Amino acid sequence: MKKKLVKLVSLSAAAVMAAAALAGCGSSDDTLVMGTNAAFPPFEYTTSEGLVDEFDGIDVAIALKIAESMDKTLVIEDMEFDGLIASVKTGKIDMAVAGMTATEERAQSVDFSDTYFVASQVILVAQDNEDILSAADFLNDKTVGVVLGYTGDSIVTETLGVAEDKITRANRAIDVVQDVKNGKLDAVVVDSATGKALAEKNDLKVVEDPSVFDTEEYAIAVQKGNTELLDAINAVLAEMKENGEIDALAEQYN
Ligand code: ARG
Repeated sequence: MKKKLVKLVSLSAAAVMAAAALAGCGSSDDTLVMGTNAAFPPFEYTTSEGLVDEFDGIDVAIALKIAESMDKTLVIEDMEFDGLIASVKTGKIDMAVAGMTATEERAQSVDFSDTYFVASQVILVAQDNEDILSAADFLNDKTVGVVLGYTGDSIVTETLGVAEDKITRANRAIDVVQDVKNGKLDAVVVDSATGKALAEKNDLKVVEDPSVFDTEEYAIAVQKGNTELLDAINAVLAEMKENGEIDALAEQYN
């Protein structure tokens, strides 16, 4: 009898551990863990008084609504952008909300929600730069900064085929923006809303080139097969799109 009891106890401990593993180590029943890279205003950035701890931005506001709809507390894990997909995959975070473009390549590793924002890439150059009027001008021996692992990185590298020794890859957009300001780099390629915000702050010029830069759709990434969370996310996104809340956030954080 006693032996049986011990066995029962250890079995249920195993069950608890299995459940915890299934739910992912980052989350418990009452928290929803959002992974992001908070160097991407207006979608996510840090500030002295953020919506959640030091974090603020459009994505933080959306994620709060999602957590609220599920009766959970939102927890934010700030990490390198390049590590987000792996963290979703392994369950370290429940969802990546990071102005993330839903690409086919990423969709092989994670499931994406419906689109909540449409963007594209832009080029940032110094105000007095007269040589870069389109992306094709990069191929004229120009130096270009991108952020490691962003879609802008793969477009400059793969689509445009800029030579490796002309590309500088930083961990944050602001680092390569500084280089353009200081004259160390000719241009930066980054997402439009972030690029426009950075250009304004740093007195740079924005060059658009829709012939090369397609539209990109931002979506939230969850672990493959996590339909419960995906459905909850899509329900909130649908409501926020319909009642104009997403537009209002874009306006507010502009
Ligand atoms: N949209 C781009 C991409 O998906 C850049 C996203 C950067 N986001 C961030 N939170 N740092 O690659």
